[in-house]
Amino acid sequence: MQDTIQKITTESKAAIHSAKNMAELEVIENKYLGRKQGELTALMQKMKDLSVEERKQFGPALNELKKLIENEIEIKKQEFENGSWNELAEKERIDITQPALPKKQFGHLHPNTLVQRDLEDLFTSMGFLVLDGPELESDYYNFSALNIPETHPARDMQDTFYIKNHADWVMRTHTSPMQVRAMQKYGAPLRAIVPGKCYRNEATDVRHEHTFYQMEGVVVDKGISFGHLKGVLEVVAKHLYGENTAVRLRPKFYPFVEPGVNGEVTCFTCAGKGCRLCKNTGWLEIFGAGMIHPNVLKEGGIDSKVYSGFAFGFGLTRLVMLKYGIDDIRLLESGNLKFLEQF
Ligand code: FA5
Repeated sequence: MQDTIQKITTESKAAIHSAKNMAELEVIENKYLGRKQGELTALMQKMKDLSVEERKQFGPALNELKKLIENEIEIKKQEFENGSWNELAEKERIDITQPALPKKQFGHLHPNTLVQRDLEDLFTSMGFLVLDGPELESDYYNFSALNIPETHPARDMQDTFYIKNHADWVMRTHTSPMQVRAMQKYGAPLRAIVPGKCYRNEATDVRHEHTFYQMEGVVVDKGISFGHLKGVLEVVAKHLYGENTAVRLRPKFYPFVEPGVNGEVTCFTCAGKGCRLCKNTGWLEIFGAGMIHPNVLKEGGIDSKVYSGFAFGFGLTRLVMLKYGIDDIRLLESGNLKFLEQF
């Protein structure tokens, strides 16, 4: 009996070990543990013919052997289900000698985004919130709340995309609607910028796009003056274009500010001499600004006798053109990779 137990132990281990697949393993399992013809099962059945002494001697050894074979079979089964260690290692192999992918395949930020993020950092360092607003805007926020009532000729200053069958909706023509939205939401005091896309039904040319970016700024507090506005505008111009940058402010009518100005910087292509980009003026218009009109403060729920404020609207896309020397605005939204890969 002892010899048979020893023989089955050695043979079953070797057989299980060399099984190549689940089917082979099942045959082996049957050979030793099968209910009818299993070699070990047969040995166990013989136990009843042995003496008490012999049963005591071989009983535990047979049980041990059964457990051993079951265990080995289970381990082998797991191996077939999960794959062997070698197969697993092969599946998860990382080839650290493989050369990295060329960097440009990962893409990069659009020049608009680069300038937008740069300015967001600058403004947050001055305590401004960065807000986001809807591009599909109501007629009320885009015009009426900004002191531009219906039928007012000032609506013609911005060629508007209206939405078919929705007379009250427009694609926002500027980021200024966020002035009133921000005042209504945050009240005073308030310091916020709003970068974002704007849309105008323009006859496009080198300076005008139908889709372009602006960055609105709004500051409301006690004692805010035009001096504060000028200070902030100069900080931005110098931050983007260097200490010697000249900013020219000229009076301009915007219904939502009083007084209102437009701001220009020296044209980068002709250095002020005059060219097709600046329409021979030597200056490029990059923003509109002014002191917030009392009617607009009122619409935002702010008492104009206690608070005053200024607002500005940078043509963010124009800032990008100036920063990188791009002489045709249409390149920025063209999706032309030859152009974009330069940044
Ligand atoms: C406005 O849009 C006002 N909302 C700006 C403003 C804000 C004034 C707050 C006062 C207070 P304007 O239409 O001038 O103003 O546009 C502002 C800037 O956006 C322009 O200086 C220009 O740089 C840019 N811009 C306007 N139209 C286009 C266009 N079609 N393509 C590219 N940039 C444009």
